[in-house]
Amino acid sequence: MIETKIKQIVRDVNDFPKPGIVFKDITPILKDAGLCNEIVAALAAQLSEIQVDVVAGIESRGFLFGMSLANYLGVPFVPMRKAGKLPYKTVQHSYDLEYGSATLEIHEDAFLPGQRVLIHDDLLATGGTVIAASRLIEKLEAEVAGYSFIIALDFLNGRDRLLEFSPNNYALASY
Ligand code: PRP
Ligand code: MG
Repeated sequence: MIETKIKQIVRDVNDFPKPGIVFKDITPILKDAGLCNEIVAALAAQLSEIQVDVVAGIESRGFLFGMSLANYLGVPFVPMRKAGKLPYKTVQHSYDLEYGSATLEIHEDAFLPGQRVLIHDDLLATGGTVIAASRLIEKLEAEVAGYSFIIALDFLNGRDRLLEFSPNNYALASY
């Protein structure tokens, strides 16, 4: 089962990036090409009931599987980046993290109005990051098709906060 495989390989790192945080390190997954392919196929299988026109991946770890997922689905990939990284005209939204705060940006021509955008990230914690991503999608008059994560930290209740935007919320491994 994919959830078991992910939980066996993901590494817990205590007190990173600050004391009290137990960091879920997905880098061991990236060394296993077969598991990476399985993960992309499993992410796509969870989306079979919803229409996805575009996959938006969030810097930086949302890029790792987001682009592969978009390719697998045969749809465009759009990067959402931290402030100051995108070269063209952008819109931005600031948000709080489990540890600190950040600003997310997207190119203003990333989507066509009404396109259904799947937000992909490696991990859901408080939900602050993907809520910022959802606000950017709204600002560009596109729609949030749903959310796709490799890992969801359900004890932080981030999923509840996403219902405002979409009921479609998928994760391969939950804690
Ligand atoms: C981590 C993780 C998610 C986000 C989840 O990213 O990759 O993007 O935090 O937290 P939230 O649900 O509380 O918003 P981080 O900002 O550490 O940056 P990185 O992906 O560039 O490592
Ligand atoms: Mg991240």
